[in-house]
Amino acid sequence: MAKQTIYIFGTSGFAREVADIARENGHEIAFLTQSPDQAEDLSEFGEVIPEGEVENLSDGLFAIGIGDNAVRRKIVQHYGDRLRFPALVHPSASFGIGQRERIEAMPGVIVCAGVRFTNRIEVGAFSIFNLNATIGHDVIVDEFCNIAPGANLSGYVHLRSGVWIGTGAAVNQGQPGAYLEIGANTMIGSGSVVVKSCEADSVYVGIPAKARG
Ligand SMILES: CC(C)(COP(=O)(O)OP(=O)(O)OC[C@H]1O[C@@H](n2cnc3c(N)ncnc32)[C@H](O)[C@@H]1OP(=O)(O)O)[C@@H](O)C(=O)NCCC(=O)NCCS
Repeated sequence: MAKQTIYIFGTSGFAREVADIARENGHEIAFLTQSPDQAEDLSEFGEVIPEGEVENLSDGLFAIGIGDNAVRRKIVQHYGDRLRFPALVHPSASFGIGQRERIEAMPGVIVCAGVRFTNRIEVGAFSIFNLNATIGHDVIVDEFCNIAPGANLSGYVHLRSGVWIGTGAAVNQGQPGAYLEIGANTMIGSGSVVVKSCEADSVYVGIPAKARG
């Protein structure tokens, strides 16, 4: 990807982390916010631009520095195909055979420092792989998921759209032809251990992880 400015939606801590990844790849960055007056002081990181300017920047490249899966989805629904969202991959991430190319082809994917992918992994658009997560073989991560720092997905696991895996959680392996599946929009609490498939639209916590109330 040619070096140019990446316009990052969001001004939170995660937006700054996305800025770091863009810079590690040689890009300039600027942040986009709906309320520039309330944006934290980001002068040491880059310029803050009102989101209303997006239509004038539409030749540029964009990233979404917002961890909330539903908010990322709304931004993409709003701007549709008008904006280009390249995958952003930290140089310290590691990949099994053929995997880097497959992940870099997916729009809006963000891979933070230290993430390790093995092989035969499918990744959906706009999913986030945060610091030091590990993604085992034969895993499917649908679009708009978020894998928090240090989470570990074993082999033969399928995350449906919008799943959140909390910091340091572990997802045990499924089997060929019988993947361990986490239903759409379900959240797995930090430090939890998932030992079997989980329903959609739920919160699971604990060891072993159980649906909360
Ligand atoms: C699971 C989670 C979403 C629940 O948040 P919440 O709805 O605000 O829940 P609360 O803090 O009110 O806790 C509700 C109950 O669940 C328990 N609980 C919450 N998180 C838990 C966890 N990770 N593991 C075990 N139990 C947990 C609480 O102890 C509490 O139990 P109680 O009712 O017996 O007192 C949240 O705790 C969590 O783990 N979020 C992920 C954080 C993360 O990974 N961030 C990444 C940043 S990059």
